Amino acid sequence: MSRTARAQAHPNIALIKYWGKRDIPLNLPAVSSLSVTLDSFMTDTTVTTEHADEHDLIVINGSPLTDRPAARVSRFLDLVASPDRPRCRVESHNNFPTAAGLASSASAFGALALATCAAFDQDLDPTRLSLLARQGSGSACRSLWGGWVRWDRGSAADGRDSHGIPVAPRDHWDLSVVVAMVGSGPKPIGSTAGMVRTQETCPLYPGWVSSAEADVAEGQAALLARDLDRLGAAMERSTYKMHATMIATWPPIRYWRPNTVAVLEAIEALRAGGLSAWSTMDAGPNVKVLCRTADVPRVVEAIERTGVAARPLGVGGDARLV
Ligand code: DP6
Repeated sequence: MSRTARAQAHPNIALIKYWGKRDIPLNLPAVSSLSVTLDSFMTDTTVTTEHADEHDLIVINGSPLTDRPAARVSRFLDLVASPDRPRCRVESHNNFPTAAGLASSASAFGALALATCAAFDQDLDPTRLSLLARQGSGSACRSLWGGWVRWDRGSAADGRDSHGIPVAPRDHWDLSVVVAMVGSGPKPIGSTAGMVRTQETCPLYPGWVSSAEADVAEGQAALLARDLDRLGAAMERSTYKMHATMIATWPPIRYWRPNTVAVLEAIEALRAGGLSAWSTMDAGPNVKVLCRTADVPRVVEAIERTGVAARPLGVGGDARLV
């Protein structure tokens, strides 16, 4: 009998970053990380079993996936259900730009893990879902929970101790993330390939790995103490360290565009004027600014003065079945 399940998950933005893997097929990270789940931006995914064709049909934002991206989703369905499962139809929508360093793979595999487990009648414990989602895309293991989430590196070879852990609920702290939309095209190099190249060629990489656990501890302590200057500083340090390893990779991985720098400077100028606002970037040119919700209008204005559109987002909730 055919079964359908629909799930929604939000992307998350790392405050303390994941970059580098200790195991590539299992997506086990070389470092722990800490994130905040966003509201408004969302992936909405429906999985239907017993698709009549001999292949899965995967449709993202109205276009069927082919080749490697399609194979990646099919392998994920095999992992969740079993390789001899019935073929499936997967229909997924993002209400924000796909693959532009806005964490679309995190919300995508978070929603897909939840919808697939429900369609195949499996146990829906969030930690188990997080372990599965991680194998689709590392950062997805942090998108099962709303609020503030840590992902431990873990040490087990099979990855059973490497999953998201909720650190503080959504209402812990009234902060916002203002996304400066510098560019929405697909990125020049994907995260997995970028991480592998960094590990293979970057002389700074060992320093990145050896300093990361202290950064997570610092970020978590600042978060629990609701100390924005301290959390923002830890976040910017982690961001610049990660981008330094990317830039010192060969050939270099440089996601920044001129407007990335313009926004960074605008935020520094706000801070010089006494406002606590802090920048971060991921595998893309966009800047995300962490600030108090009451300060959002001033942050939006500062970003827009550089000619870049700004989109304020709040802290989001758990992934959920619809
Ligand atoms: C820079 O989770 O997209 O956004 O595990 O290879 O799918 P894969 O990578 P992905 O990497 C995200 C990297 C980052 C930092 C972060 O989100 O922690």
